[in-house]
Amino acid sequence: MNALDCTVTAELETSMWKIYRDFFDMAEKKRRWRIREDIPWNECNPKLDPAIADVIETFCCVELYLPDYVSKILPLVRQSKGRTWFYANWGYEESKHSLVLGDWLLRSKHRTEEYMADLEKKVFEREWNLPEGDALGMLAYAMVQEHATFLNYRNLKQRTIELGGDPALETILSYVSIDEAAHFGLFRQFYEMFLKVDRESAIAAIRPVLNHFQMPAIHDLLDESPRRIAAVRDLGIFNEEIFFRDIYTFFLNFLGISKAEMRGPRIKKSLAT
Ligand SMILES: [Fe+2]
Ligand SMILES: [Fe+2]
Repeated sequence: MNALDCTVTAELETSMWKIYRDFFDMAEKKRRWRIREDIPWNECNPKLDPAIADVIETFCCVELYLPDYVSKILPLVRQSKGRTWFYANWGYEESKHSLVLGDWLLRSKHRTEEYMADLEKKVFEREWNLPEGDALGMLAYAMVQEHATFLNYRNLKQRTIELGGDPALETILSYVSIDEAAHFGLFRQFYEMFLKVDRESAIAAIRPVLNHFQMPAIHDLLDESPRRIAAVRDLGIFNEEIFFRDIYTFFLNFLGISKAEMRGPRIKKSLAT
């Protein structure tokens, strides 16, 4: 059993609670934003390259799996106040992401109400499931995922500027990418604690995440997955090179995990035949 499977020590719980309170207080003070008031909605650009709107639609769909993201993780961490309170707050912040991206698709006239209603219906017909089976696995997954999501939104903002510009969308992508970076920061703090306490289990937990990385929902739940993935790649938002440099190598470096550790223990071949 690893350190996060059931209960963790009171000391770790206290540390996680403190990390969460600092995270929450900082979010209340510096990071809150309002969809109606803080976006320059009259500066949407209907002539923005449609390739950008296509990717916004894909990311909006990914964010729409929120009911599964929240409802499936909470039972795994229910005994931990720091983690449950964090996930409740995280769910609120993530709920704004699909809302604001959907609002932009409508207000910029890149999509119609009917189209969006149909899209949501398709999303809710399918169910996302946890990619890892325990809390430590999900912590490693979430940490990597949040950083990847931050990169996606940051790079998408850059492409938006290059492909015609849209002050409303650029503002949205700034707020959303800052949220994703903050989520990554909290998961990172949690994960690093467990890496100190139980290095072997923590590395075993991140190994499958880094070795088989996939963005949630895009690959297996959305219609026209190959087209959507190609669009993200063609715009240079996320591709194999970005993954290797900004995810795989980035995580190994800052966590101080060697490539040998990432490969894992060698399975000894039995001499018996
Ligand atoms: Fe998000
Ligand atoms: Fe996030």
